[in-house]
Amino acid sequence: MKILLLGSGGREHALAWKIAQSPKVEKLYIAPGNAGTASVGENVALSAEDFPGLAKFALDKQIDMVVVGPEAPLVAGIADYFHNDPSLCRIPVIGPSKEGAQLEGSKEFAKRFMQRHGIPTAGYLAVTHANLEEGLQFLRSHKAPYVLKADGLAAGKGVLILQDLKEAEQELSAMLNGAFGEASRTVVLEEFLSGIECSVFALTDGKDYVLLPEAKDYKRIGEGDTGLNTGGMGSVSPVSFADDVFMNKVEQRIVRPTINGLHQEKIPYLGFVFFGLIKVGDEPYVIEYNARMGDPETESVMLRLKNDLVDLFLAAASGTLSRQTIHKDPRYAVSVMLVSGGYPGNYEKGKVVSGLDQVKGSVVFHAGTKLKDGQVVTAGGRVMAVSSYGATKEEALEQSFQGARSISYEGKYFRRDIGFDLK
Ligand code: AMP
Ligand code: GLY
Repeated sequence: MKILLLGSGGREHALAWKIAQSPKVEKLYIAPGNAGTASVGENVALSAEDFPGLAKFALDKQIDMVVVGPEAPLVAGIADYFHNDPSLCRIPVIGPSKEGAQLEGSKEFAKRFMQRHGIPTAGYLAVTHANLEEGLQFLRSHKAPYVLKADGLAAGKGVLILQDLKEAEQELSAMLNGAFGEASRTVVLEEFLSGIECSVFALTDGKDYVLLPEAKDYKRIGEGDTGLNTGGMGSVSPVSFADDVFMNKVEQRIVRPTINGLHQEKIPYLGFVFFGLIKVGDEPYVIEYNARMGDPETESVMLRLKNDLVDLFLAAASGTLSRQTIHKDPRYAVSVMLVSGGYPGNYEKGKVVSGLDQVKGSVVFHAGTKLKDGQVVTAGGRVMAVSSYGATKEEALEQSFQGARSISYEGKYFRRDIGFDLK
């Protein structure tokens, strides 16, 4: 098979690494990819959002399957674009329809969907200029912290959690006035839930699903979960508190009702559903849906997935997922993200990365890198994830920290406490 994978982050390097292991794959292209994906496939200089360019490439190269890594092309409708074109519709796209991707693309859509299907989530109110007074009342009638979310995609920056009522009221107005552009023309206010978070991933054909290994990510820049939010500083799988009892509740109350809901509402969905969950007391609630895999969760999840990923994609595309069983590596897998100095604020790019050949016993997944004159240079805030196995979480982490210390570039930073809150 010839497969075209879209995206350029650590998630995509991990997916590419896993796809390339399938004996079914004759050729793997990644658009646009990074310096790491170039070692497991062929990078193509096309944006993941250039639909006509990707369509032409897919036809020219006789691509058999498109796998979509990031959310932006999904929310922009890449699956529908291929599906609705007679010359492209034979190519399965692993990624939901534009409507299905609204689970991530619109927080209000996701909230309404959960409400219709009785899926546990924080209480909410969707606010526009038309009901601003009601929004202010919602804030005033709740205790701090206040949770304000831009309805649309805001590159992971659209969620504010504020302690002060006055500030929350001001931010609500600022958001409605376009603080996050079009994405915050509607703002979703939520009740604050207190608990510990984890990420659960399903691959679905819109009717059946399989669950991949769960993971926990670490979003804050600082140790002890302090400081600004980032795209993710590390991940751990398995998650100790996501035991059988908890996961049964997750499946019965959240995963099954979500997939059934999509099916009932005739929303085409072939791809990943990412359930961002929070455990409040002993009960799971949905914080958010994403229409794709998580990053840096994928870097750990792919290590633990023993199945041939391409077989799973083929089963999803042919509606035969119910016949698949997931096989998980019993070991721990962890990922430690190396980032650029200054991230998630301003940072410099183009720093030469050295020491990659010194990393032993770990897999290094590139995120923000590119090749320049034969050298790997930094090209983003999150630079690379060092992923390792271990019989215990501690053993896996020690392996990754050792790898992280071996890699050098100016401004390198990583959190040394990934997994600190798990048993
Ligand atoms: P989201 O982009 O919706 O995942 O939100 C980003 C982060 O904000 C989440 O990972 C949570 O840590 C936090 N968060 C979002 N919604 C809530 C909520 N209702 N209660 C508590 N924390 C939340
Ligand atoms: N790690 C969280 C995300 O991918 O959105």
